[in-house]
Formats: sequence, structure tokens, C-alpha cells
Amino acid sequence: MSNVHRSLLAACSNASSLKYSLKLAPVIARMASNRATEQMVVPKEDVIRFIAECLTKSGTTPEDGRTVGHHLMTADYCGHFSHGMNRMQMYVQDIKDEMTDPVAKPKVVTDFQAIALVDGNNGLGQVVGKFCMEMAMEKAKKFGIGMVSVRGSNHYGICGYYTRMAVEQGLIGFTCTNTSPLMAPTRSKKACLGTNPLSLGMKAAGGDSFVLDMATTAVALGKIELAIRKEEPIPEGWALGTDGKPTRDSEDAYKASLLMPLGGEENNSGYKGYGLGLMVEVLCGVLSGSEFGSNIRQWKNKSKIANLGQCFMAVDPAAFGPGSEERLGKLLQQLRDLPTVSDKPVIIAGDPEKASMARVDKEGGITYHPNQLQASKEFAELMGVQPMKLIAKKAV
Ligand SMILES: NC(=O)c1ccc[n+]([C@@H]2O[C@H](COP(=O)([O-])OP(=O)(O)OC[C@H]3O[C@@H](n4cnc5c(N)ncnc54)[C@H](O)[C@@H]3O)[C@@H](O)[C@H]2O)c1
Repeated sequence: MSNVHRSLLAACSNASSLKYSLKLAPVIARMASNRATEQMVVPKEDVIRFIAECLTKSGTTPEDGRTVGHHLMTADYCGHFSHGMNRMQMYVQDIKDEMTDPVAKPKVVTDFQAIALVDGNNGLGQVVGKFCMEMAMEKAKKFGIGMVSVRGSNHYGICGYYTRMAVEQGLIGFTCTNTSPLMAPTRSKKACLGTNPLSLGMKAAGGDSFVLDMATTAVALGKIELAIRKEEPIPEGWALGTDGKPTRDSEDAYKASLLMPLGGEENNSGYKGYGLGLMVEVLCGVLSGSEFGSNIRQWKNKSKIANLGQCFMAVDPAAFGPGSEERLGKLLQQLRDLPTVSDKPVIIAGDPEKASMARVDKEGGITYHPNQLQASKEFAELMGVQPMKLIAKKAV
């Protein structure tokens, strides 16, 4: 017990207030245990193992369980905790509620040279997504470009996972997905488009890269869920509240589920984010024949299957001639060298994720918020699987 805790407990005992000490004791215990868990990490491999086991217990094959596990671990590894472990229970529940088929395999509907249409057959989004990106990359290597449109899919996690698959092979990767209506388009107080994220990535010479991965709303709903988990307010400009006005109350924002488009209100050019969200819907729902716009089921509504649409593209820069990676390398360096307004340097999309990965590697594993660890421990008991292994964080 730390000195702070000792003095707090002492203060309670001599304040003729056993009542207070009883109230404070659990708080102090939680503070101590929070501090202890902040010094612990979970090795990446054990995150994958834990997620894979929970999913396999729910009916997936071990291979598909690992595909989802690797994806969700990577989201946490990149620092996108809203789309990692945080999502696993939702996938398990979707399987339990027969909203996702845990053993479905994607099926190719049309395969014409550089393009293909795939039916995800209501399988796990990450399994469908990996299949489609691999297909787009194979086509890009053959034709210079490959594009795969998919319907019948589910929530597929972070877009950057798929674009990084292409970047690792020297290709430009692009993907986007439609999602449940959560964004109130400019001038509306009703949601009609989703957070509709998109990602584009490309490798540059000298080990650099550009990986843009972003929701077309001001933030993803997962960030509001995380704020609730951390008992924090949200910044202004993220969402409207139940009264249709901008709010900072995370619980009210989650209840209303009315995210603002990227840019926020109309006078801040929020209509551009609204336009980008609609662009994603053209490439996803309109092209593939999946659900679109307000036809998509409400977030966490189980009245029908999700039937999401997604788009995957890969382009081989070498097919256009030599030098693209070198030119991108020079461009990124120009940006990095720009004079700055503070002591913070100009960075490139993808840098925060790279920094997070480097930190995790140095510390020997992923640092989870104590509330997430507690929720995962309880879930492990429920599922009858070994909880995640906590080890001491390595000093950096
Ligand atoms: N599957 C889904 O339904 C769904 C829906 C929404 C979001 N998502 C995922 O959630 C994740 C988070 O989305 P987000 O919009 O909150 O991301 P974000 O706002 O954290 O980052 C967006 C992009 O900006 C870059 N960036 C951050 N700071 C920067 C800076 N100072 N300078 C230059 N670039 C910078 C990041 O590298 C990233 O590419 C993404 O991985 C996204 O794919 C998934």
C-alpha cells in the first residue's frame, strides 16, 4: 500500500467515520489495482490467443478465430483501442444471436479480370475482408489494378489493417466500408449515413509510408464508448445529444448516436465530411448491392443481419513506371521538414499508429485500461477460457 493510501485510510479511521472509510476503501483498492495493472502488459500473441479461443468457443474455426484475433490485436497494437478487444464481445454476441454466421465462407459472384464481386455470406467481417483484400492484391499483381466489391459482410474492424496488407507488398491499398446509420448529415437531426471509414496506404522509399485511416465522421462511435469506459467527457464537435444539440456528455452522445460529420457543423465545412461519407456509400452499398444508408440496421439492433458493403482496391505503382516510392519518400520528407508552429513536428498519417506499435514492442506487450482488463477477465470466466496473461511492462 502506498503512503497516499495509508494516509487516506488513517484520515478515515480517526474521522469517526467508519461510514467514509467503508465508502473510500473500494475506491482506494481500485486506485491501487489500477496503478498495478498500468504497470502490466499483455503479450500480443496472448491477445490473439484469447480472442481466437473466445471466438472458437462461439463456433468459428480456429483459423478464422485467429484471423479475427490478429486483426483486433493489431487495432490495439496501433492504439485504436475502440476497434480492438473492445469489439470482441460484440462479435461473440452477434454469433450467439444468429446475426453472424461463424462458419460462413465468402463466395465469388463475378470475377472479371481486374474486378470481382464477392458475397460475404454473412460471415465474420475480418474473414471476408482478408479474403477480398488478398483477391484485390492478386489482381493488382496481374493487371496493375484490382478492385473487389463485397456485399453480405459484417463489421470488419480497422480499415488500416487491409491497406497495410497491400503496403507490405509494395502496393497502394484502398478500402472503405458502410456502417449502421450514425451520422446526422449536415442540416439533419436524424442519422442516415454511417461512420463510413476509408483508408489509403502506400510505401515510400527509405522505410517511410503514408497510411491514412479515418472515419468520415468527426470520430468513430467506439471513441465515445471508450470515453464512457474511462468516465470522461467528449470534446465539442464530436456528436449531437438527445436534444439534437452538440454535447460533451459521453453517455448522452452514445444514447443519441448522432455523430457529426468530419468538420462538425456547416460553418466548419462539415458538409465535406458528409460528402466523403456519401462517397464511401457509393463505393460500398450502391456498387455491391448490399444494404445502404438508412436501410442498414441500426447500430446494435438485432432485427436483421447487417449485410454491409465494402470496397477493396490494390494498385501496383510499378505498373505505371518506376520511381513512385522515391517520389513519395521525397514528398513525405518535404512535409516532415516544414517549419512548425510549436515544438511538435509535422507528422504523416500512419505515424501515430507506428509510434504506438514501437512503444508496445519496447514494453513487451499491450497496455490495456484497467476497466478493459476487468471486462476481459469476466468475459474469460463466462466463456470458460484462460484469461489474458499479464506480464510486467519492460522499462523503456
Ligand atoms: N469498421 C468500422 O465500422 C469503423 C468505423 C469507423 C472507424 N473505424 C476505424 O476506427 C479507427 C479510428 O478512426 P478515426 O477516424 O478515429 O482515426 P483517427 O482520428 O485516430 O486518425 C485518422 C488518421 O489521421 C492520422 N493522424 C492522426 N494524427 C495526425 C496528425 N497530427 N497529423 C497527420 N495525421 C494524423 C492517423 O494516422 C490516421 O490515419 C480507424 O482505424 C478506422 O478504420 C472503423
